[in-house]
Amino acid sequence: MTEVVHTVAEWRALRTKHRAAGRRIGLVPTMGALHAGHTALFAAARRDCEFVLATIFVNPAQFNEAQDFEHYPRTLDADLQLMTTAGVDTVFVPSVAEMYPRGTDYTVQEDALSRELCGAHRPGHFTGVLTVVMKLLQIAGADRAYFGEKDYQQLQLIRGMAAAFFMETEIVGCPTVREPDGLALSSRNVRLSPAERKLAPQFFAMLKSAPDATAAQLQLRALGFGVDYVTDRENRRFGAVRLGATRLIDNVTR
Ligand code: PAF
Repeated sequence: MTEVVHTVAEWRALRTKHRAAGRRIGLVPTMGALHAGHTALFAAARRDCEFVLATIFVNPAQFNEAQDFEHYPRTLDADLQLMTTAGVDTVFVPSVAEMYPRGTDYTVQEDALSRELCGAHRPGHFTGVLTVVMKLLQIAGADRAYFGEKDYQQLQLIRGMAAAFFMETEIVGCPTVREPDGLALSSRNVRLSPAERKLAPQFFAMLKSAPDATAAQLQLRALGFGVDYVTDRENRRFGAVRLGATRLIDNVTR
């Protein structure tokens, strides 16, 4: 059974013990509502490290819409079961007060990539992400930390932050896990209505098949998606769309 700890002090006491025993620690930060994409991150951590620490924290600082934060799925009991099956040793489930004892008077801000793509549509989002990931990396003291490539911009920013601040945890990216119809797994998928769920795989299909980003946008709009952006950068195509109240992001190599 995965052990649950709620405070930094509790985790640090455990960490001292595992470090003394020479175990490598693999960290998988999550916001809960776990799915097979997270299982793949746990499996990668399990493969590389003798001790796997997960975190579940729905981070208010990265939600730029109060409603989105309130409606974010919270499924702790099911998450604990999944983590137990996946061989997660310990999960850190802090309160907001534990994570933000000084509120948000200290934050981590990046001034270039964080303002583009998703950052242009969700002001402050990546400052919230980088701030909480900096905290989690400092608390965990892990050898490696695992993040999914579905959130590719997030992964790039976290890698950049770790390099800029000489952080010792190695940041490991793991491939996107998809439904058989191509839809990238996301905790937000449960919010899609049956009709939206049927349409959603077209997002991945259009990102893959459209000859250029403009064509992908036009095709997606014609199908009924709200399009925040589709952009080609280097060897990758990035997109963010809306189906009803649900925002989906994805990226593919070209
Ligand atoms: O990708 C996520 O689930 C979150 O952005 C993260 C990295 C756990 C930070 O809250």
